Amino acid sequence: MIKSEVQKRKTFAIISHPDAGKTTLTEKLLLFGGAIREAGMVKGKKNKKFATSDWMEIEKQRGISVTSSVMEFEYDGYRINILDTPGHEDFSEDTYRTLTAADSAAMLIDGAKGVEAQTKKLFEVCSMRGIPIFTFINKMDRETRDPFELMEELEEILGMRSYPMNWPIGSGIDFQGIYDRKHQLVELFDASNPVEVTVHRVQGIEDAKLTELLGETAHQKLKEDIELLDVAGDEFDEERIKNGDLTPIFFGSAISNFGVQSFLEHFLTMAPAPMGRKSNEGYIEPTSPHFSGYIFKIQANMNPAHRDRIAFLRICSGKFERGMSVKHPRLGKSIKLSQPQQFLAQERAMVEDAYAGDIIGLFDPGLFQIGDTLCEGKEMVYDEMPHFSPEHFAKVSIKNALKKKQFLKGLQQLTEEGTVQVFETVNGLEEMILGVVGELQFEVFEYRMQHEYGVDILFQRLSYQLARWVEGEEYKAEHFNLTNSRPVKDKYDRPVVLFENEFTLRWAVERNPNLTFLSHAKR
Ligand code: G4P
Repeated sequence: MIKSEVQKRKTFAIISHPDAGKTTLTEKLLLFGGAIREAGMVKGKKNKKFATSDWMEIEKQRGISVTSSVMEFEYDGYRINILDTPGHEDFSEDTYRTLTAADSAAMLIDGAKGVEAQTKKLFEVCSMRGIPIFTFINKMDRETRDPFELMEELEEILGMRSYPMNWPIGSGIDFQGIYDRKHQLVELFDASNPVEVTVHRVQGIEDAKLTELLGETAHQKLKEDIELLDVAGDEFDEERIKNGDLTPIFFGSAISNFGVQSFLEHFLTMAPAPMGRKSNEGYIEPTSPHFSGYIFKIQANMNPAHRDRIAFLRICSGKFERGMSVKHPRLGKSIKLSQPQQFLAQERAMVEDAYAGDIIGLFDPGLFQIGDTLCEGKEMVYDEMPHFSPEHFAKVSIKNALKKKQFLKGLQQLTEEGTVQVFETVNGLEEMILGVVGELQFEVFEYRMQHEYGVDILFQRLSYQLARWVEGEEYKAEHFNLTNSRPVKDKYDRPVVLFENEFTLRWAVERNPNLTFLSHAKR
């Protein structure tokens, strides 16, 4: 029973540079699953319809997706979970954590722009984890770059070989459709009626029917392209795809819903079901009878009307049932999971049961931290969370001293969510220093403090760029109180030193051979 449920599941993230069409593609995928009824529900930049992936005002103002969300739907007997990763480069930390919860990734590329900066960054994280990556080259209804050139770019910039599953016939005003290499089908694109796709089966690339359908020149070009791919391209190799060494490529136009269904269907047959994960007790199979999972994200105030805080848990094994009691090894206690929520595109639904690969949201009364494992049976801990050292720092204070209580509450919640890290100075002045990985997180912090906690804050930017957790008996904070370094402590009172640059850090390391400088705190 658990086995068949696990086999049904596909949990993936869409990675792309802003504007490549991720929202549009997500929306079309959800339409196939019947999870939404009408296009424009996920995020309407102009019509402003509100949806789960669009919680925060700031997202609307900036037209970017700040928070990650999770959407699930069913298609063709599969249960699909899409993890929406924020596209903006300043949200790397949150994004990276979300990617740990995915078993594969769909990499979306704008056909006119090719591989862009953010795609590369996100790709690197996926590649580090060795998950399979499926590429969708979007906006073929517009003038795009030559598809061979795009394949070369994947190899040059990302170091990834590719295998086109289908091939575009022209682009822009000459875009006629795609040729499916495996199934020997042509899907014809009609710009005046993009919703109606006609599909023709042909007997290979030489079939005269293709001349009839596409015209002599386009058929000839397609023939040459496919022959070149067959001779000079990589072979289709499922093992290499599974290991993330070869990416299957699909072409299409998300906005016209063209090529999306074909992408989805190929993806579902090739993408892996949830696999085992490493824990301190060894490899845990998804089909293990004991429930387990870990928290990869905490989000406060998702619904401003309810002031709630939700911890997102990726299930790694066993069966989840509403109301079950599980162990919380970090706190050394047992807790009851009574109100889990699952995230559909339009509304939150209550989950009754769930399996490996599913993401559930748990109401969090302050019990959870990012990286926490929850389990049944023998106690164990997953260590899936990448650690990051903040790179930007600012002293933070409040404009109105009477708001101190709200400020401290907001600070606590936002640090627990992982939006910012907080440090306290050790000079007796009780100053707070915030550290973030991406600069935009300061803005998010300021905005949320104001809108969710009613606190206006002031920032004073500091010139430090590195934080190091110091270990060693001989550590004396005052030795580091210099112009280009500053001793502070983190929220667990562990000693940390902020440095202005690599040079000052190296100097400190050389002068203090008895101390260890770590880029993140040990758990
Ligand atoms: P994002 O989430 O990756 O940032 O991208 P989003 O889906 O919001 O798409 C970015 C822009 O690209 C949108 O246009 C969208 O309509 C357009 N787009 C998406 N897919 C395609 C496609 O296949 N072909 C073409 N031609 N355009 C596509 P916009 O003008 O920024 O917004 P809107 O006015 O359409 O809402």
